[in-house]
Amino acid sequence: MDKAKVIDKFNEAIGLELGALLQYNQYAHVLLGTERIVWEPFFSETADEALSHARKFAAKVVALGGTPNCEPEPIKQTTDLVQMLENSLEVERRAVQIYTEALALCEGNAAYCNLLEDQIEDETDDVEELEKFLRKIQAAGGQQSASAAG
Ligand SMILES: [Fe+2]
Repeated sequence: MDKAKVIDKFNEAIGLELGALLQYNQYAHVLLGTERIVWEPFFSETADEALSHARKFAAKVVALGGTPNCEPEPIKQTTDLVQMLENSLEVERRAVQIYTEALALCEGNAAYCNLLEDQIEDETDDVEELEKFLRKIQAAGGQQSASAAG
């Protein structure tokens, strides 16, 4: 296992998670009306999840002798719920990709492979949930029906 490459990949993941944290947190705050009732808990909880993922991999970066990234990726601002969900799906798909790349770098280290397989499972669950939300919204004819899609 090339520690320097693993540190870089984990730091890429941390930047993504910190950006996701801020983006989900912002979406939770700016939602209004009935959309707020349905979706605020989802965005708040997912923001907390992103922070826990960032912390988990920051701890590993330090364990490997590196310095954890503290620069979040830029967030995409919007007040449109469907756009929020599409932006979220994009972030979660990238998370799956980054953790899958990290898994390949950790070949031979059972503990790190196990950690990353669990992480990929979590992120894949998020992708699938967002795909299901969006499928329902699209089937119902767009944003007008989004507030009832949860
Ligand atoms: Fe995550």
